[in-house]
Amino acid sequence: MLKNISIRHANRLDVLDILSWRNDPKVIRGAIDKVPIEFKNHVNWFENQLKNKTLFLAHLDNRPLGVVSFTEEAKGSYSWSFYVVPEQQGKGNGVPLMELGLLIARNILGADRLQGEVQHTNRRSKDLHNRLGFIHILNDNNLAIYIKALK
Ligand SMILES: CC(C)(COP(=O)(O)OP(=O)(O)OC[C@H]1O[C@@H](n2cnc3c(N)ncnc32)[C@H](O)[C@@H]1OP(=O)(O)O)[C@@H](O)C(=O)NCCC(=O)NCCS
Repeated sequence: MLKNISIRHANRLDVLDILSWRNDPKVIRGAIDKVPIEFKNHVNWFENQLKNKTLFLAHLDNRPLGVVSFTEEAKGSYSWSFYVVPEQQGKGNGVPLMELGLLIARNILGADRLQGEVQHTNRRSKDLHNRLGFIHILNDNNLAIYIKALK
């Protein structure tokens, strides 16, 4: 069954929700730095994401579903980070969220290459990158690096 998912740019009203999700143990578990994020650091990151228009919030039936953010590493080459909000994890929302992220990368940001950096222990995220056609290029210390050409 098709899910009623929408996605929009994050705005300043989302700052506290996004901080609480970033600091939830179920999201921290998949993060590269597995430490809680301080308010000041979060606000700096958040303002930078708003300035670059690279932070997106997805909803399922008008309830928050997940967050996708991008960083332009080189011209046209982006890395991404995403999570399903804690209460919506484990219900099959990973693929739809990532597919929306891919659409945004391609059609809104104009990216021609997308990279995901995944903790070796994050089996779910590694499976999802494989399912969406990313290529596993190398292991960097504790990270698996996945890339996908978008054009
Ligand atoms: C990684 C992450 C995005 C995956 O999203 P998710 O919603 O938890 O994953 P899904 O529900 O789509 O899939 C997870 C499992 O639920 C199963 N599942 C449960 N109900 C399902 C349903 N209704 N439909 C499809 N799959 C379902 C899937 O088969 C899958 O099984 P698996 O654990 O054997 O792989 C999410 O767990 C997350 O945000 N984690 C924390 C942050 C993170 O790791 N981000 C990625 C950093 S690279």
